[in-house]
Amino acid sequence: MTTIGQPVERVDGRHKVTGSARYSAEIMLPGLVHAVLIGADVPSGRITGIDTGEAERAEGVLAVLTHQNLGPVAKDQPELFPSLGGGAAPAQSFFPMQDDVVHYAGQHVAIVVADTLEAAEQAAKLVRITYARTPAITTIEQGRGQMFEAERVFAGMISGHSTRGNVEAGLNEAEAQVAATYHCAANHHNPIETSATTAVWEGDLLTLWDGTQGPNATQLTVAAQLGIPASQVRVVAEYVGGSFGSKAMIWDHPALAALAARHVGRPVRLALSREQMFDSVGHREEQEQHLVLGARSDGRLTAIRHYKLSPTSHFDDWAGPALGCSASVYACPNYESVYRLIKANTITPSFIRAPGEAEGMFVLETAMDELAYQLGMDPIQLRLVNHADLDPETRNPWSSKGLKKCYARGAELFGWDDRDPRPRMRREGNLLIGTGMATSFYPVYPVFTPQRARARLYDDGRAVVQASFAEFGTGIRTAMTQVAADALGVGLDAIRFECGDTALPNTVAAVGSAGTGVISAGVHAAATALREQLVARAIADVKSPLHGADPGQVDVANGRMAVRGHPERGESYAELMRRNHLTDAEAIGSWDPPPPSEKYASATFGAQFAEVAVDQDLGTVRVRRMTGAFAPGRVLNKRAVHSQLMGGMLWGLSHALLEATHMDPVQGRWANASLGDYLVPVNADAPDVQIEIVEVEDTVVNPLGVKGVGEIGMVGSGAAIANAIFHATGRRHHKIPITVEDVL
Ligand code: MOS
Repeated sequence: MTTIGQPVERVDGRHKVTGSARYSAEIMLPGLVHAVLIGADVPSGRITGIDTGEAERAEGVLAVLTHQNLGPVAKDQPELFPSLGGGAAPAQSFFPMQDDVVHYAGQHVAIVVADTLEAAEQAAKLVRITYARTPAITTIEQGRGQMFEAERVFAGMISGHSTRGNVEAGLNEAEAQVAATYHCAANHHNPIETSATTAVWEGDLLTLWDGTQGPNATQLTVAAQLGIPASQVRVVAEYVGGSFGSKAMIWDHPALAALAARHVGRPVRLALSREQMFDSVGHREEQEQHLVLGARSDGRLTAIRHYKLSPTSHFDDWAGPALGCSASVYACPNYESVYRLIKANTITPSFIRAPGEAEGMFVLETAMDELAYQLGMDPIQLRLVNHADLDPETRNPWSSKGLKKCYARGAELFGWDDRDPRPRMRREGNLLIGTGMATSFYPVYPVFTPQRARARLYDDGRAVVQASFAEFGTGIRTAMTQVAADALGVGLDAIRFECGDTALPNTVAAVGSAGTGVISAGVHAAATALREQLVARAIADVKSPLHGADPGQVDVANGRMAVRGHPERGESYAELMRRNHLTDAEAIGSWDPPPPSEKYASATFGAQFAEVAVDQDLGTVRVRRMTGAFAPGRVLNKRAVHSQLMGGMLWGLSHALLEATHMDPVQGRWANASLGDYLVPVNADAPDVQIEIVEVEDTVVNPLGVKGVGEIGMVGSGAAIANAIFHATGRRHHKIPITVEDVL
């Protein structure tokens, strides 16, 4: 009886709800002191003076560090690298407090260290900094004249320009066309736990407790920034309170905490404030997308042109990969995409749930709905006509797909078929009711580094399994416990899973929906190796009932090995081990990812449906229900997968209707950097969410066939809602969020 797929409750749930789980800013150490970061008030210019005297004299203050006394960080900074590739993963190639130049508002310009948090916060107010301000660019409007075509974007992972066929020719063939420019607001990270690091030096050894999606990535990045060997840095991330990409790449605060700790010779805790989550960990960039679709009268696409324009930092050409979806989702011979960037006074934008795909699919799927109306076709029918049987980019088959079933199953559950497609036809009193749908798509990213784990069984039949990955709220520790129990052949309760520590075997940062799929391969390898080791021992042991058995015929369940079909020819691991004086047995497993497949393309697909009620007088949109059908490959834990997909779908609602960070174009700062002013949905905004898993088997992506569910729930849900608003009201909105003001 396998536990894989079962809706197992969180193995660490009790620790979290009782408060015994410790997060990075809750680590208590003797002599611990507190650091507070000061961010630049201006978006551009130079620091002309820093008066730290009053702050340094304030009670409890141990140090005030600025560019004048922080000291240099290593010259050879690691290149900006996506954390999902393995290796160091600095979030931007700029490190602050090395000189007096200010590149963006909020850029860290000073650190105050004091014996209490309150003393540090108070003293931070006493540091007087003067600036010579220079003109800044902080919005698309201000920088439009300086746009350029990017060579590569998304941490260098994708080309800034992509083309196949001939878009002009395709548009000439088209009998229908939709073209529009869309605006997507900037979005910021608001996980419950703000980013935090606690740093302590013991001689040359640095230990960081850090909220991170990748302990090893933090280790390598901080080591490179400080110019010390990685072997002298240990990173612990016992619990991480949500992340969604905010802790996917490594920002400057872990290294700054380490530098502050070295300076004062005490353990230092540095936690970002809620406001600092808006200028210290990257964001989803404000963007303009331009999309043109050409189609024949039967709906077949003849051309797609998709451009994106967005601000990036002065140091890095970052753009979320919003254009990849239009290249891959539909069969279309003629395609062109261009990323245009504006060098702006901003921190480098970064991963934030479904980075790129969320916005790109909002645009593509809104346009597909428009095209369906223009052609008088059902929106699902239009998508079926353009179904990509092969990957349109490589002409390779998909390693698994299931999209047609997602459309069919989603439509059935939602009740799509009896829909009257005409807008403004359904009314309930003053409410206009509408329904909409969209496709979901998210790539399966490859990883390059081996994934390792260690499994150790004691002679009481209980096991400890270890790997370095951080549990950042996704349920990965629980899923990995299931994988280990299944492969080792023991009950779930027999396993304690230790994770979140670079002292444990190396795994990749869990980023881009790729964590569970590849990390499970290492865990599976370790537990399988241990099972095989013990089975081999039993077979070799003349005193074992399994002596001389064919290893291929031995099953293990509940810790007992037995020859298949002969339950009497068996014994437990514990019996074998005690008889042989083995207090424990251990195996390290490693999965070395093969090079990315040249024969298959891999992505996760789904279909989303939404129903909205629009109040004509108030302009309010209530999402009444959402249905999502997804084909994510193997499900390791039904409960965790459901919860991930639901969270993603609700974030899609939030993306479509609520979330926007507003830039003050004069001050060059975010104007609503707080949870009071930045709107996120609460339970009262959350509709009934129905989720269906369409089963597909994938033997290509990784050994267990897990395609990942972190992002896909968010992809398409915003468009389904926007399309439902059009169906309700007859008005099309080419922007998100769609606010009360837009609807009125
Ligand atoms: Mo995900 S946005 O790559 O954590």
